[in-house]
Amino acid sequence: MGNKIERDPITGQYTTGHQWNGIRELRTPVPTWWMLVWIASIAFAVVYVVLLPSVPLGDQTTAGTTGYTARQALEAQLETVRTAREAQGAVLAETELADIVADPELATLAFNGGRSAFGVNCIQCHGVGGGGQIGQFPSLIDDDWLWGGTLEDIWFSINHGIRNETLDARFSIMPAYGDFYEQADIEAVADYVLALNPSSPDHATRDRLPGAEMFELECSACHGVNGLGDPIFGAPNLSDAVWLYGGEREQLVAQITNPQMGVMPAFGERLDEATIKMLAVYVHSLGGGEEAGAGETAALQ
Ligand code: HEC
Ligand code: HEC
Repeated sequence: MGNKIERDPITGQYTTGHQWNGIRELRTPVPTWWMLVWIASIAFAVVYVVLLPSVPLGDQTTAGTTGYTARQALEAQLETVRTAREAQGAVLAETELADIVADPELATLAFNGGRSAFGVNCIQCHGVGGGGQIGQFPSLIDDDWLWGGTLEDIWFSINHGIRNETLDARFSIMPAYGDFYEQADIEAVADYVLALNPSSPDHATRDRLPGAEMFELECSACHGVNGLGDPIFGAPNLSDAVWLYGGEREQLVAQITNPQMGVMPAFGERLDEATIKMLAVYVHSLGGGEEAGAGETAALQ
């Protein structure tokens, strides 16, 4: 049971001096690089605990002398994004629609912002791509506009809405002709409406149809003598193949007897100015936007 430290003849290393039944233990110290890394880790941990929040104490932690927290860092980042957004919003709010569209950078900003605002506020009625729903909500992607398709017209429709309870909303009411005309008269005027389409076999001779006189008297003031519609009244073009409430004879009769009137909220009451402009730019770009001058909104404002 000697405790002698001696050199092992085979490996050339010293032993620890321990031995059990003649088996001696070699002294193999931890490598220096490992010791250094270990000491550095301890030093790092000490510095970390001093500088940064680390030791949990109930629902808090020790604060750290730098005052840094990941939550604050996130909030600071969010604040930067928010400030940038606000700055962009302010620029959009004070720039004319036409100038927004003319500036590629602003136009892209408005288009992207408009697309996401559309996804939140409009698709429940106008559909995901703006295609509308037949019989209820108009398509915004064709070039058939009830109230005009210029940037300003579209802006006005979104900002003030249609037939809602606000004062500046677009407004018009088609009379319920069922209240003061016979069924036969209404069917006759519906046949006349069908003949307004240039592809109808009765188109050329439509003035001889029994409904012609009633159309001229009752309907042309809003829908136009040739049924082309009028954006001042939001009166649709009746001579094309695009129908809001359906183009079958009985659908026309139903509309003329007791008209459905579309209602849309005034988004100017819910969204900020920049967002309304972004929406106008987006909707205008969907495919059917008209050049300035085509609509009559300016005269209404
Ligand atoms: C509650 C349903 C509803 C929502 C939500 C809605 N709309 Fe409408 N919108 C309508 C209806 C109904 C009409 C057609 C009104 C009419 O018959 O004149 C319309 C008409 C329009 C028009 C005029 C179309 C034309 O042919 O002149 C535009 C532009 C428009 N909507 C854009 C939007 C945008 C952009 C949003 C989202 C910010 C939106 N709408 C949200 C129901 C809605
Ligand atoms: C005061 C104006 C006004 C008068 C007068 C009027 N309309 Fe209309 N008409 C409208 C408006 C506005 C709409 C669209 C309703 C809506 O957007 O919800 C409409 C819609 C229609 C539609 C549905 C079109 C579609 O795309 O589905 C038909 C059909 C129609 N009118 C026929 C007539 C006929 C026929 C007469 C005459 C007997 C007449 N209108 C008189 C304003 C008028």
